[in-house]
Amino acid sequence: MGIDTHRDQINLSRWLIEQERNHGRIPGSLRLLIEQVARACQRISRAVSRAASSGVLGSLGSENIQGEVQKKLDVIANDVLLQANEWGGHLAAMASEELETIHTIPHRFPRGEYLLMFDPLDGSSNIDVNVTIGTIFSVLHLAEGAANVGPEHFLQPGRKQVAAGYCTYGPQTTLVLTVGHGVAEFTLDFDEGGFVLSRDHVQIPRTTHEFSINMSNMRHWAPPVRRYIDECLAGSLGPRGNDFNMRWVGSMVADVHRVLSRGGVFLYPWDAREPDRAGKLRLMYEANPMALLVEQAGGMAIAGTARILDIEPTGLHQRAAVMLGSTEEVALLQRYHAEQDPHSHTTIG
Ligand code: AHG
Ligand code: MN
Ligand code: MN
Repeated sequence: MGIDTHRDQINLSRWLIEQERNHGRIPGSLRLLIEQVARACQRISRAVSRAASSGVLGSLGSENIQGEVQKKLDVIANDVLLQANEWGGHLAAMASEELETIHTIPHRFPRGEYLLMFDPLDGSSNIDVNVTIGTIFSVLHLAEGAANVGPEHFLQPGRKQVAAGYCTYGPQTTLVLTVGHGVAEFTLDFDEGGFVLSRDHVQIPRTTHEFSINMSNMRHWAPPVRRYIDECLAGSLGPRGNDFNMRWVGSMVADVHRVLSRGGVFLYPWDAREPDRAGKLRLMYEANPMALLVEQAGGMAIAGTARILDIEPTGLHQRAAVMLGSTEEVALLQRYHAEQDPHSHTTIG
């Protein structure tokens, strides 16, 4: 079968320029910032694909601010993103899962109006076993008149994100992006030397019979989550009257990418092992960007009864419970949470 090499491919720059020119959706500075993030992801993709041959698999022996063991690639990906985005003049500061506090733009470079947050490499436990991992990012606007940028400027609810996305490093390198008007997917094309549009106007099917959760934590879940999963497991013999399938990659980027591709519901809920912690995933650079993408693709993203994008953040590294995906399932989960605690507007912890 011949491959058509003359298709009129739309690359990331063209797609962004058309957002800017035809729809007035993004300013030029945001376009340049997103292009720079994409270039960094391309570099990380290369580092990931060469990790075994260049000897950068495995751990570093250090821990990050969350007390998690850092893999060599976590640190490499973090450095690539910091370096690629420092000099462009579009950013005031960056924040990362791997850094205790914010990284302000050095004085030798001009300071811009945006704030960038990222999980440089998501799915750490999959790095050394050649399973899909990825980068997640979120862009906020710096409040007007802010003289000295500090961590407090990042503490904006997720609904204020001006762009969000992720890049998966798997069988293909795929960049999924929103600038607040739907979701587009780009695939790294080696002939083109960059990302080309593979799906525009991505929509999550409203219904699904597939759920994604780490079942080994079942005994620690809160009753509404337990009830929901119990009913899925009961299948056609239970109240749902349908059999459900389960998938769990263990990299949020890969699990959410599946949800954005064919529907499903992804959960990382609060659990009783650490009752004071809202969940495992981080609000600012995991839950919020994914929630914006999912909502922009017609799905729902909640932390219990509350919408993730409405959570008022109190810390850069704060955690959140995450339940997102196909609307009918997430709405049911929200109802189960409301029935348990009708006065709760946020999740536990
Ligand atoms: P990170 O590698 O950035 O620390 O994130 C890991 C997260 C997320 O990718 C995934 O959904 C979850 O941890 C997996 O948790 P389990 O180990 O419970 O499967
Ligand atoms: Mn992560
Ligand atoms: Mn990470």
